[in-house]
Amino acid sequence: MKNYIKADEWNIIEEGFDPRLNKISESLFSIGNGHMGQRANFEETYTGETLQGNYVAGIYYPDKTRVGWWKNGYPEYFAKILNAANWIGIDITIDNEKLDLHICKVIDFKRILNMREGYLQRSFTAELPSGKKVAVNTKRFCSIVDEEAGAIQYAITPLNFDGEINITAYIDGDIANQDSNYDEKFWDQVSNEGKGQDVYLTLITKKTTFEVCTGSRVAVLQDGKAIDTDFKPILKDKYVATAFTVTAKQGQETVIYKYAVNVTSQNYNKDELTSVCKKVIDRVAGKGFDKMLREQAAAWQIKWNESDIIIEGDVAAQQGIRFNIFQLCQTYTGKDDRLNIGPKGFTGEKYGGSTYWDTEAYCVPFYLATAPQQVAKNLLIYRYRQLDKAIENATKLGFNNGAALYPMVTMTGEECHNEWEITFEEIHRNGAIAYAIFNYVRYTGDKDYLNDYGLEVLIGIARFWSQRVNWSDAKKQFVMLGVTGPNEYENNVNNNWYTSMLACWCMQYTIEAINLVKNSEALKYDQLIGKLNFNEAKETEQWKHIIENMYLPKDNARQIFLQQDGFLDKELIPVKGLPAADRPLNQKWSWDRILRSCYIKQADVLQGIYFFNEQFDSDTIKRNYNFYEPLTVHESSLSPCVHAIIASRIGYEEDAYKFYLRTSRLDLDDYNNDTEDGLHITSMAGTWMSVVEGFAGMHIKDDRLQFNPFLPGEWKSYSFNIGYRNTLVNVKVNAGGIYLNNLSANNITINIFNEPHNVGANIKIFVGHKVKV
Ligand code: BGC
Repeated sequence: MKNYIKADEWNIIEEGFDPRLNKISESLFSIGNGHMGQRANFEETYTGETLQGNYVAGIYYPDKTRVGWWKNGYPEYFAKILNAANWIGIDITIDNEKLDLHICKVIDFKRILNMREGYLQRSFTAELPSGKKVAVNTKRFCSIVDEEAGAIQYAITPLNFDGEINITAYIDGDIANQDSNYDEKFWDQVSNEGKGQDVYLTLITKKTTFEVCTGSRVAVLQDGKAIDTDFKPILKDKYVATAFTVTAKQGQETVIYKYAVNVTSQNYNKDELTSVCKKVIDRVAGKGFDKMLREQAAAWQIKWNESDIIIEGDVAAQQGIRFNIFQLCQTYTGKDDRLNIGPKGFTGEKYGGSTYWDTEAYCVPFYLATAPQQVAKNLLIYRYRQLDKAIENATKLGFNNGAALYPMVTMTGEECHNEWEITFEEIHRNGAIAYAIFNYVRYTGDKDYLNDYGLEVLIGIARFWSQRVNWSDAKKQFVMLGVTGPNEYENNVNNNWYTSMLACWCMQYTIEAINLVKNSEALKYDQLIGKLNFNEAKETEQWKHIIENMYLPKDNARQIFLQQDGFLDKELIPVKGLPAADRPLNQKWSWDRILRSCYIKQADVLQGIYFFNEQFDSDTIKRNYNFYEPLTVHESSLSPCVHAIIASRIGYEEDAYKFYLRTSRLDLDDYNNDTEDGLHITSMAGTWMSVVEGFAGMHIKDDRLQFNPFLPGEWKSYSFNIGYRNTLVNVKVNAGGIYLNNLSANNITINIFNEPHNVGANIKIFVGHKVKV
């Protein structure tokens, strides 16, 4: 746990330079715009500890899996979003000395991530070994208006000398992934060119043959005027640069602007990449840095209007929630249904930038409520487009009749995890994908989605589950053997309650969806069953038979659902009995010891209770929470938010707040000691859920928004906007009660504490808190 980020409502601030924290800060201060993103590496050379990271969405490489004993069904490759050309480089040399904060004396240093306006700022004073001092001020951003472009303003001032400064503004494409399995490099050069202030480098990925053209243009100003200097292009293999020298007097500021653009063969023909790149450079450089930044601030204002959560009375909590929302909005904009959300977004290499169940279980609810409907829909369509591959995956494993098993880790729809024993058996991801369809339709009312895309996916998933169970003669029930639930600290277990429960729900929901589609679009339905060769009567009969006869483990004495068969054979020692030195278990204990222990990595039974909350009364939820919470170590970032939501629902307000804090500042305070690898982007959606679905108790029931709010004792109030079916509602909760302000031109009925309230267009209503008995 660290505590070096200054509390501020709109900014992430680091003061003073501690090289030991640099990799953490590189993650925290990351910037992105959905199309590309990068860690907060320095523009000038830095020879200290750093993790260089520049990423372009969708550009991946199938790195060969490392595995000792190959078995049928193992994925061939582990896909990774590639570390791409570094376009921020601005090398500074003064009298043959490099400006390098690892070597210089750093006199002062400040880094700010301005979340309100969407840019990264850095200022420092450094003393070179010769005693020459310079002051540097930088600003940079990835534009959310011109998504292929980024811009840098780099201002340098000699403080105690007059002299020449040699500057090389470069694009370096000779990049390796730190996590490359066989130390290979994944990029080759296609072309490089440069003229005057402009340079262009086109690279191609090995095997996948994506091409990316990265271009840049520099402009230099002194005393507010462009200066005339000799700009020399340098062209080397996988490297292009513009080199120039300026003469500056003591106290005179030189400002370098660098406009950079990444265009890819995903969006353009390969033979036009350089010319498109030039056009985009002309456009953004024509606007200039200040105008681009003004547009950036205006575009962020719109994002904040949709998604901000305002917390009064607790600056650390305010900073935490905004940081989470900011990073989510930087990662995924929902404009391209070929893209998804990697667990680390554009902030690190871990998890390969691939798609996990995190998207459906955690991110979809955030985008549903805070972005235009198309954004969440595109996340669903991403999986729809990969249905063929999911069927292929299932077929490879021995399933038939169009059964679909979505991968646990994927880029293209093919399974590409690299940890068979844990990841593969997590077939629960198939259920999360079905659940997201249900959630989307429930939230938006867009039933056409089922007609056009959803039902086809659901039938594939239901077919999978119906084949994955088997009849147990001993139990006279259906069982589900050899699975891993969300709790990865137990692998290959039998009858994981969450997975079995979810499987039954999927088959049940598919039957409902069939009826909906049949009744609304009979023709489409007929076409679909023809396409899928679907025998409705026979297949749904079998599904119903399984649902009615499924074994769902429970403990009658404790009246709880059992995480899996045999769970109670474990020694049940609460987490609070664990020595602090043993945590996190996955870094301190052998895998053998973890597997035998009772410790739960992340919400498992409680994840099921979260999804299907409506089915359980409050006493049942309490019993399960009371049993499982003390055994949960929350060593997945996806865990505390689910506990925060459930604790809120059963009135355990202190617990709810404790878990909220843990998720909201997980990265800012480096809670799990792993922020240096990158941020926990997907769990950031869970932080939003903790406030909106937890504290405010928002859920949808019978096509209606519902709130059951409480105010954490530490706060004065919290408020947020929710977009729901053509209405935009501001929700504010304070000590007195809840205010609903309908900001749209449509009426809406909302339940508060289970009572319906009509909120007319542009009308605000207030409902007091229920008195607790
Ligand atoms: C969690 C998984 C999750 C993955 C990616 C793992 O640590 O246990 O549930 O999908 O991280 O976020």
